[in-house]
Amino acid sequence: MIDLNGKVVLVTGGSRGIGAAIVRAITGAGGEVVLHYGRSRDRAEALADEVGAGRCRILAADLDDGAAVPGLWREAVAWKGRVDVLVNNAGIYVAAGVDADFDVWAEVWARTLRVNLVAAAHLCREAVRHFRERGGGAIVNVASRAAFRGDAPDYTHYAASKAGMVALTRTIARGFGAENITAFVVAPGFVRTDMAEDYFRDHGEAPVVREIPLGEVAEPEDVANVVVFLASGLARHATGATIDVNGASYVR
Ligand SMILES: NC(=O)c1ccc[n+]([C@@H]2O[C@H](COP(=O)([O-])OP(=O)(O)OC[C@H]3O[C@@H](n4cnc5c(N)ncnc54)[C@H](OP(=O)(O)O)[C@@H]3O)[C@@H](O)[C@H]2O)c1
Repeated sequence: MIDLNGKVVLVTGGSRGIGAAIVRAITGAGGEVVLHYGRSRDRAEALADEVGAGRCRILAADLDDGAAVPGLWREAVAWKGRVDVLVNNAGIYVAAGVDADFDVWAEVWARTLRVNLVAAAHLCREAVRHFRERGGGAIVNVASRAAFRGDAPDYTHYAASKAGMVALTRTIARGFGAENITAFVVAPGFVRTDMAEDYFRDHGEAPVVREIPLGEVAEPEDVANVVVFLASGLARHATGATIDVNGASYVR
């Protein structure tokens, strides 16, 4: 039922974790992917080989540098002459609590907003302008349960960045729906990736699992399947909505 044949999808942070699962799910559904990565070049190349080099173009850009975004978008469009769907998935989860030195706190706040929110916003801007010219397109932004529930105290900046992403997405859905541009949020709870494993190393996995009625941390594919469904256009009228993927650990 889900068919992405003929669709070109740009996935940020496609080298690892949830992004890599999204790349596999999109190509598995017949789509073509621009796989963006930051530092994990080997993993990006291996994944491109796995899904078939003809179906996947890899592009590097450091999303901590907003000025890199227009070039990334231009190169993504240049591959097939268009992008039909943007998936803002890349993100960072770096601890900095109120007891950290001010310099550390301030740097982590600013970096988290730059990577998780501002770079995503710049890409949304590029996408909206491109979609307008083409008569439509879709954006799927990977936020977090933290946007709604809040996060652990050392991650105020992360929760704020993801809440900003939700507001960004809703505004795009309302503002550009008349131009056939749709925008969705996917809000995962804990998902088994490097990001979550880092957290488990410091805080343990058992307390996290105890909060999840399904009794397990989600797998990257649980998120990727939802992203592919939204990217397919089958849920057009859900534009502006958030789909939670958290095993009922936060039902709202
Ligand atoms: N895992 C969870 O429990 C969880 C829960 C809720 C929401 N999320 C969200 O889901 C998304 C994916 O998370 P994940 O768990 O898959 O994370 P991950 O395993 O840590 O992977 C992060 C991805 O983002 C890319 N990235 C990070 N910083 C970058 C930068 N400065 N420039 C370019 N690329 C950058 C990485 O690329 P390189 O390795 O190539 O640099 C990598 O592909 C994130 O937005 C995250 O906030 C995750």
